[in-house]
Amino acid sequence: MDAHRPHPMMPESNHDEIAEQLAIVDMKMFLATKLDGGQRSLLENKVLPEFEKKHGREPRNHQELRKEMEPETAYQAYVTMVSTAQDMMWDAVGTCVDRQIDDLMNLAEIENPKGSVRVNPDLEVPRYISAQDIHRMPGNYHGTYGERDVRQGAVFDRGAVVYQMGRNGGYMNDIRGHTIVSHYFSRWPEGKPLRILDMGCTVGHSTLAIASYFPEAETHAIDVGAGMMRYAHARAERLNIPVHFSQQNAECTDFDDESFDLITSSAMLHETSGKALPNILNECHRLLKPGGAMVHLEVPGRYDEMDTWSRIRGDYEIQYNYEPFWKGAITADFDKLCKEENFSNVAVGYQDATVKAERGNTEFGGPSKGVHRSWLMISGVK
Ligand SMILES: C[S@@+](CC[C@H](N)C(=O)[O-])C[C@H]1O[C@@H](n2cnc3c(N)ncnc32)[C@H](O)[C@@H]1O
Repeated sequence: MDAHRPHPMMPESNHDEIAEQLAIVDMKMFLATKLDGGQRSLLENKVLPEFEKKHGREPRNHQELRKEMEPETAYQAYVTMVSTAQDMMWDAVGTCVDRQIDDLMNLAEIENPKGSVRVNPDLEVPRYISAQDIHRMPGNYHGTYGERDVRQGAVFDRGAVVYQMGRNGGYMNDIRGHTIVSHYFSRWPEGKPLRILDMGCTVGHSTLAIASYFPEAETHAIDVGAGMMRYAHARAERLNIPVHFSQQNAECTDFDDESFDLITSSAMLHETSGKALPNILNECHRLLKPGGAMVHLEVPGRYDEMDTWSRIRGDYEIQYNYEPFWKGAITADFDKLCKEENFSNVAVGYQDATVKAERGNTEFGGPSKGVHRSWLMISGVK
């Protein structure tokens, strides 16, 4: 298997496509390191002193300064380049997938699968997903183009490699899954779940990592798109890890009460809404057996801990990268929300990112080491 294609469902990229994707990674890296630093400097050395001189006071909040950044040509150019790099990424990956979509649909037909896939054409995709193309991905998570379609899954799988720039486990993109299990093992070193549910699984990057630690368990995973679930199923089968995928809303699934020992999610909660969040926790409570645990992984920044530039940069994610609940999630009082849904033994804190989870590790509870080095974990027991 070549290094750019760790499993047969991963869309193949020819020489020119690889060159294009790598150039976009470089461009994203340049924006995130060099130009991001330049914007911080513009804010601190020009926009802030000018604001204080003009108004004779400190700014009351970051929005006042964002308004002063917006007319700056350098800021406009930066924002345009960040959006353009993102659009170039989806365009490059989309073209590569469309060239081989028939082959991918054929490869997704699995004989004698160990897991399964269940789609629901009547599922109403929640508005917080359907309203905008999250991450500017054309077609979003749920776009589906026919009964055998797998396109959005293929685009997401290939795109995530470029998007994460190698920071989430390269082509497998599975560090978050290992980190979830690491958190579980840090809190419950003897834990042996026999039924697991991963919510908001997308193509199963984290799901398969989680399932790999518990071969005795029956693992289920849900998300809102039919094409996405078909791709996730085929990918899991080709990687020989049995998982039962189904197209469902995490707020109200069709699983029986008290039917899981462990429920997980990875980077899902910040893509929901203030109304959905308690519904999802409530659903976790309904689905867990007494004594069962939930472990949710979220973005590591908390709003209170962010400086002014990071908050302005966060506004970009909301306005132009179409992550409307980004701020809601990083200001949410997860401890209170979990307790309101009757969870006990609740913990909210940072877990070190890892490529291999060890039972009894002590990597939970310290300060955040930053993006992709730590993740925020929210866990509790029914
Ligand atoms: C950033 S992606 C998660 C990535 C994936 N868990 C991983 O670690 O690779 C967020 C996912 O959550 C899903 N999602 C958001 N709200 C959901 C809901 N109410 N029910 C099911 N899936 C949901 C989205 O469709 C999307 O696929």
